[in-house]
Amino acid sequence: MSFLKRTHTCGELREQHIQTTVQLNGWVDDIRDKGGVIFFTVRDRYGVVQIIVMPESQADLADIARSLGSEFVVAVRGIVRKRESPNTQIPTGMIEVVASEIHILNKAELPVFHIHDNANVNEELRLRYRYLDLRRPSLQKNFIIRNQLYQITHSYFAENNFIEFETPVLTKSTPEGARDYLVPSRIHKGKFYALPQSPQLYKQILMVSGYDRYMQITKCFRDEDLRADRQPEFTQIDVEMSFVEQEEIIAMAETFISRVWKEIKNIDVQLPLPRMSWHDAITRYGSDKPDLRYSMEITTITENVRNSEFSVFKDAAALPNGAIALINAKNCASFSRKQIDDITEHAKKYGAKGLAWIKINPDGIQSPIAKFLTEQEIKDIIQLSGAEQGDLLLIAAAEFERCYTILGAVRTEIARVTGILEQIKNNFSFHWVIDFPLLEFSEEENRWVARHHPFTAPKNEDLHYLSTSPEKARAIAHDLVINGYEAAGGSVRIHQNSVQKTMFDLLGFTPEDAQVKFGFLLDALQYGAPPHGGIAFGFDRLVMLLAGTDNIRDVIAFPKTSSGLSLMDGAPTAVDNRQLQELGIRLAENNSQQ
Ligand code: AMO
Ligand code: AMP
Repeated sequence: MSFLKRTHTCGELREQHIQTTVQLNGWVDDIRDKGGVIFFTVRDRYGVVQIIVMPESQADLADIARSLGSEFVVAVRGIVRKRESPNTQIPTGMIEVVASEIHILNKAELPVFHIHDNANVNEELRLRYRYLDLRRPSLQKNFIIRNQLYQITHSYFAENNFIEFETPVLTKSTPEGARDYLVPSRIHKGKFYALPQSPQLYKQILMVSGYDRYMQITKCFRDEDLRADRQPEFTQIDVEMSFVEQEEIIAMAETFISRVWKEIKNIDVQLPLPRMSWHDAITRYGSDKPDLRYSMEITTITENVRNSEFSVFKDAAALPNGAIALINAKNCASFSRKQIDDITEHAKKYGAKGLAWIKINPDGIQSPIAKFLTEQEIKDIIQLSGAEQGDLLLIAAAEFERCYTILGAVRTEIARVTGILEQIKNNFSFHWVIDFPLLEFSEEENRWVARHHPFTAPKNEDLHYLSTSPEKARAIAHDLVINGYEAAGGSVRIHQNSVQKTMFDLLGFTPEDAQVKFGFLLDALQYGAPPHGGIAFGFDRLVMLLAGTDNIRDVIAFPKTSSGLSLMDGAPTAVDNRQLQELGIRLAENNSQQ
């Protein structure tokens, strides 16, 4: 018999298979030698099943069974029978296979860690031996979800008449956003391709070419600081549509999301999804991607304490764009000094100079700043924030966006330490954030930069701000937020050459500069560009949300560490001088190979 002709997978045997002769292939999981009887389990990606070697079986079968080690690759032949002591924890737990033949297809070194979900193994080791890590059932479950999402994506967009394209990976460097990954050209020494941060310009150009509905599941590359929900190479579901307004893009995207949640989680997502302006998101939740699974809204008190004796408040209110606001941490008046200090330290990471606090104790209020506040000010603060006995108010005073961002971070931290996040971990909340500011002023570069990207159209009614007060112009942009993650982002684009030129001008590009960097787009916009817009979903982030993990590495087969290393293969590595010479590259002295 061939040892590679499986009749069943390890996860599918049930009581209905009793008396059937089966042949299985898989990895040895657990071995228990009970003297006479030897039990072991065999695992594949479909599940795990128990094999039993009876005392009365041939001696050589028992010898083979005794020689098995963890993660050996085996073929087992035998007859399914009812298990004496069923294991209700696994789907195959009602049966076992009485082995008649065992064949070792390959031996394995003792694995560096146990392939179990509850094994507490440090992540570096798991990434170094990713092939072992990927055998864990919980990771396998994530990749099955990932695969479901590929399939649903392809069918949804195909059914809606989208055409799939592949856009280039070796592209022109147009740094506006994150840093580019560069690829040196051997033939054109001193010149570089860039890996795409997204296919943005290609998909717009496809609209000019008349492919009015484009989609692509594609890799994007961004050389930026990494976080738990960011990778330097990640996947987008990239979408672009012609002859549409923002409404149609939003409708197409949310119908897709509701289908995904229905098919993968069997959850009905109520459409249309709620929408919130960027301004509301910031002033109510302190974030442009607020987690709306819990409320804990921010209360603004700028006008009530504008003339306060407390200089921190007075100074902030005197800023051209200052704000004073607070979070009411319900039932947190019992927090110790240390707990408040920890939250303050957390707030400092977001730029807070300090956090003022007020406790509403049974015997009145307690606060280091009470002595500076008038009775009326305290009354206003309590009334506006809805504070009740037992509550703790945490107040920040700073420049507008900083003040709210600090409180957004305080809001999440309070939700974490009080256990709110744990309680809502299986819930989902979906909503759009719209009306983003088009531009923001970069102190570092001393110029306006696009918040989304420079191809996003301003709202028609805000066009006049571009020449007077650019900070007031809002973009026709839309971000889809799920549980506090930015799951997708997009916009309506500028489709007129003259408007795009004005935009580049505002961003501080000289006409020559704009022509050198984006000439191909400006040219294309002159040859009949239809009105168009689109969106890109963060594929990995959607899988994270569907799989219920907060670590993006759990849904990417071969991810990078937070410092951009691939621990399994060792990338990035030094290359030999010959390779560099061919490319016409010499390393600077202090950067040479370590
Ligand atoms: P944006 O930059 O908002 O838009 O990206 C779209 C979505 O991609 C995901 N994403 C990431 N996921 C993992 N790791 C990263 N480093 C990372 N960066 C972004 C997010 C985000 O919402 N071309 C535009 C789209 C458009 O305008 O149509 C773009 O790339 O989920
Ligand atoms: P100080 O005047 O620096 O001693 O601060 C008095 C109180 O105000 C302390 O509780 C500080 O944490 C708090 N505080 C300082 N700066 C700020 C700020 N920008 N916003 C809110 N509270 C602050």
